[in-house]
Amino acid sequence: MTSPKMPISLTVNGRVVEAMVEPRLHLADLLRDQQRLTATHLGCEHGVCGACTILIDGQPARSCIALAVSMDGAEIRTLEGLQGDPLMEILKQAFHEQHGLQCGFCTPGMLISAWDLLRRGVALDERSVREAMGGNLCRCTGYQGIVRSIMAAAEMAKAAGLIKIGETA
Ligand code: FES
Ligand code: FES
Repeated sequence: MTSPKMPISLTVNGRVVEAMVEPRLHLADLLRDQQRLTATHLGCEHGVCGACTILIDGQPARSCIALAVSMDGAEIRTLEGLQGDPLMEILKQAFHEQHGLQCGFCTPGMLISAWDLLRRGVALDERSVREAMGGNLCRCTGYQGIVRSIMAAAEMAKAAGLIKIGETA
């Protein structure tokens, strides 16, 4: 028996989306299947791997365990919505140059989490990057390239005046 659908209205990457959703539909499925925003990847689908990380009201969150029906009124941003963002472009460049990916499956979630980490402006060293990124799992890289990418991106973003590391919390 299917449950009755419920109306929701949310903003996705700056665009108002009106949808009728079943109570059990996850946000990731709404984004991927109904909005065709397939940069959001699904790995474990139970909140562990971080592949599905997006921004909900400006905060990183797992879209595989967020129910779409609870997103009424929320502002969602996916990796597609950060295209052209100067800090994200620097991160992408650093991941490319520092070999921060192999198969790329974890990469969208990694980029969103790293973007959030850098914009906070906290001082970073290898250990703190590893700790901050602990909620994002990668099956390929061994993490060295990812950590190197984030450290390099932090330096590039700092040089470009996009972030002031160590001056904000
Ligand atoms: Fe959401 Fe793994 S797919 S945390
Ligand atoms: Fe393959 Fe991370 S690059 S899972």
